[in-house]
Amino acid sequence: MKIKKFPISIVLFIVFWTTQTHLYALTPDKNLGIIPQPNHIRMKGKTSDISTLKIHLDKNMNSPFYTDLFKGVEGITVVEKKYANVLLKSDDLLGQEAYSIDVTQHQVIISASSGKGFQYALTSLVQMYRFHGLPLPQVLIQDNPVFGYRGMHLDVARHFFTADEVKKYLDYMAMYKFNRFHWHLTDDQGWRVEIKKYPKLQEIAAYRDETLIGHYNDQPHKYDGKRYGGYYTQETIREIVRYAADRNIEIIPELDIPGHSMAALSAYPELGCENKVYKAATSWGVFEDVLCPNEVTFKFLEDVMDEIMALFPGKYIHIGGDECPKEAWKKSDFCQQLIKDKNLKNEEGLQSYFVTRIAGYIQSKGREIIGWDEILEGGLAPGAIVMSWRGVEGGIEAAKQHHYVIMTPNSHCYFDYYQSESPGEPISIGGFIPMEKVYDWNPVPSELTPEQRKYILGGQSNLWTEYIHTFDHVEYMTFARDMALSEALWSKDKDYRRFLNKFEKHYTYWVNKGAHVAFHIYDLKHHVKSEIGKPVQLYFDVPQQATIYYNYEDDNLGTMNGLDTITIDKSGKYTFIASKNNQRGHPLELNFNLHKATTARIYLETLPSDRYAGRGPQSLINGLKGPDSKYGGSEWLGYSGTDCSGFIEFSEETQLNTVSFRFFKGEGQWIYLPKAIEVSVSDDGIHYSSVVSTTEIHTDTKVANISLPLKGIKGKYLKFEAKNYGTIPTGRQGAGYKSWLFIDEIVVD
Ligand code: ACM
Repeated sequence: MKIKKFPISIVLFIVFWTTQTHLYALTPDKNLGIIPQPNHIRMKGKTSDISTLKIHLDKNMNSPFYTDLFKGVEGITVVEKKYANVLLKSDDLLGQEAYSIDVTQHQVIISASSGKGFQYALTSLVQMYRFHGLPLPQVLIQDNPVFGYRGMHLDVARHFFTADEVKKYLDYMAMYKFNRFHWHLTDDQGWRVEIKKYPKLQEIAAYRDETLIGHYNDQPHKYDGKRYGGYYTQETIREIVRYAADRNIEIIPELDIPGHSMAALSAYPELGCENKVYKAATSWGVFEDVLCPNEVTFKFLEDVMDEIMALFPGKYIHIGGDECPKEAWKKSDFCQQLIKDKNLKNEEGLQSYFVTRIAGYIQSKGREIIGWDEILEGGLAPGAIVMSWRGVEGGIEAAKQHHYVIMTPNSHCYFDYYQSESPGEPISIGGFIPMEKVYDWNPVPSELTPEQRKYILGGQSNLWTEYIHTFDHVEYMTFARDMALSEALWSKDKDYRRFLNKFEKHYTYWVNKGAHVAFHIYDLKHHVKSEIGKPVQLYFDVPQQATIYYNYEDDNLGTMNGLDTITIDKSGKYTFIASKNNQRGHPLELNFNLHKATTARIYLETLPSDRYAGRGPQSLINGLKGPDSKYGGSEWLGYSGTDCSGFIEFSEETQLNTVSFRFFKGEGQWIYLPKAIEVSVSDDGIHYSSVVSTTEIHTDTKVANISLPLKGIKGKYLKFEAKNYGTIPTGRQGAGYKSWLFIDEIVVD
């Protein structure tokens, strides 16, 4: 193994080039410690002499939020008007959420047109005071968000969180100027809101008999045998709605219908299509027992919605609509007759009929409805707002149909997914969405015309809690990434490096408050560089200009930095860790297994999904195996519905003894093993002869390791094709959808 240092001229060139392209580095850096980054900052080039803030609040600004905001900040006091050095002025020309802060030599002048604007201004001021350092610079901030809808979602059905925990979530949201709390109150595993007219929702539907232990993909399933549940009384809900309103947050309640309704069915089986005993679900996924579109159900839903609308005064009601299997409706004579009577095309038409009817009821009371993107199927209800979660396609389609859209794609906004590849991460549903990816996200897809873009209201993070049992874990999954999301939704002036500098300070603030915030900003991201015929080389994105310390096996080999590359010329365990001052990242352990293809080149004929592209095709032959426990990340390549095929070019004619492939199996996440693998070999890259194929692909664990004999045949090219499993069969999670195929690594010996 060798380390390569760049010659000094190249170093100088790179430094020169980076300063040229990052002009912000030459201007005052506009880092005032504020997250999300304000949209207009004019540094006046002088400091003020303000080192304490004396704020006068009007009588109509008596929200308890302010008491909380100023609590424990030494040097901030609320005073009578005559003593104030922070002056609040009403300016009706500013928009609802806009504000300005003018820090002069002795005073801070805040302008806004509404309570929202003043809240955002004071939040920014307190952040600047806490995180920038004193005295304050003289600066003019003029700020207004890019998107009007900035949401955070919390699933309290899979696991229940107390009123105090929900309030902590709202406090966090207020700190980062989120304005919509999407409260997922019902699902298969529990109904969490008191409905006076239907007491069995509290007595029965709020509880499940037991809960799955471990991950859904662990076989066989095991259960904890403990009854689990809870619900919010209407009094508690009112208190939380008030608490949110004090922070200018609107709560959007979601009752997920007609699918995800087993808890409701357990209490009121007459809402189902079959005459049977229903139970709240004890494991995760999508279930075939759904609400029946009969008059009993509609009466129930109208009654329930009446109570919900009385509890939640906001504009929006979310009616779910996602993941509703149609099996029960297909088997039901009643549903089949209804399809005929209403002249509907099929069960999708019936879902559209169901949603449209409930939507109409809610809209008749002056509210608007939101549904997950499945509500597009069979036709959108008039006026419905689409929450696009299975990627952005649903949102694009809805915008083209002139419906408003909230973007929450599971490519960027699912914070139940892993945020780090570090092996110590708590068990999660799967996937991989690191903070940087969230930060770079733009909720407006480039496919849309300027006219269509107006329909994108904004974005939201979703936190599904199948694998999240405690509020500490909620904080761990959301707090870091939601800071990044807040800038993605609020700020035009984005700069990830500046964000990381601010993040460190905000992180410390939350940790001192006792919150559990994920800290991965010193974790290393490695890149593998391959050249045909040459050994693998590694280089890193080095966070915050830290130094990398590295070991081979147990030998300490020294340090390197972001301009260095390291040549990997022997197999074994390499460990890297970034460190700067007293901060250090999680160790990155890379177990290289060099084989005949690690010095080869790979070409893919079919490309993986953008979301699961590893670090490019070379990930398949870089000598590193994707982890056994999770897909996603830098190694695994994921194909949605398509085959994986391509060829490997060796630097010279090579004797080929075996080739082995690894595939991930996670049927809970729709990830299936391939149906077949075929391998052929060629001398010239044109004429291939088939060498081996198999359809025997099985595993009892999460990873199938399939080794195929090549019998010492010689060749310069090896072609491979792994056939996608195809459509997911009835009775399985994701039935009817395309399955995923995940592959890594192709080892040639
Ligand atoms: C969803 O994640 N089922 C909306």
